[in-house]
Amino acid sequence: MGRSVKIIIINGSPRKNGATGKILKFLNDYLKNNYQETDTEYINLADLNIKFCTGCENCYKTGNCIINDDNTEKIRNLIKHSDGLIFSSPTYASNVTGLFKTFYDRVHMTMEQLLYCKPCITITVYENLMGGKTAKILKEMVMNSGGYTVSSLTIKNAFNKDPLTDKIKNKIEKAGKNLAKKIKKNNPPLFSKIYTRIAVNVFLKPFVFKEKENNKGIINSWLEKDLIRKT
Ligand SMILES: Cc1cc2nc3c(=O)[nH]c(=O)nc-3n(C[C@H](O)[C@H](O)[C@H](O)COP(=O)(O)O)c2cc1C
Repeated sequence: MGRSVKIIIINGSPRKNGATGKILKFLNDYLKNNYQETDTEYINLADLNIKFCTGCENCYKTGNCIINDDNTEKIRNLIKHSDGLIFSSPTYASNVTGLFKTFYDRVHMTMEQLLYCKPCITITVYENLMGGKTAKILKEMVMNSGGYTVSSLTIKNAFNKDPLTDKIKNKIEKAGKNLAKKIKKNNPPLFSKIYTRIAVNVFLKPFVFKEKENNKGIINSWLEKDLIRKT
């Protein structure tokens, strides 16, 4: 049987084979072995030399980033056409890593609501404190981009220790199962859809429509998703 479900896995750790990487590889194997129809794309941000967002707002205007030599637009396109996503970052200084935040800015997914109706898993690993805060930040990133989090894993793990205990493996499998189920059901929670519609129509639209010409990229993305009426 052909694989028709696409899940994108993003590793935001600078250490590709650290605890985050081990968790993601286990989850990737679980999904591929248990869901024949599922195809995954595993992306290590550390491989990509992602440049900083320059703040030009060209993406607002055209829907595309002016920097096109570091694969970020390619990843954005993969995200756009995916059925589900897995976002992960270790906790660095009570937050996501700089690498993950740079990626998040560059794929410009918030204004356009790129994740609209897409189910996501968020994962953070931490050693001591503030893993919960990072988990909250990751979930907000998903929600503010129109998606919804089906499972959020916050895993406490000592430096360089293998995180894959039986208990953690269980949690990872449960999250994977949840994601596969939500993709199959294809029925995003009403709350998430209403939240996105209010965010777009009440808070973002008045600002964006003040400069329609300069925000065509955003407006087109909303129209594609039927988030606003024709202008
Ligand atoms: C720069 C830096 C900042 C960190 N900040 C925190 C922190 O605020 N709270 C915490 O519990 N662990 C912190 N850690 C520990 C990492 O979250 C932990 O080692 C994690 O497992 C690393 O993930 P990785 O193995 O996937 O690279 C920090 C580590 C680094 C290198």
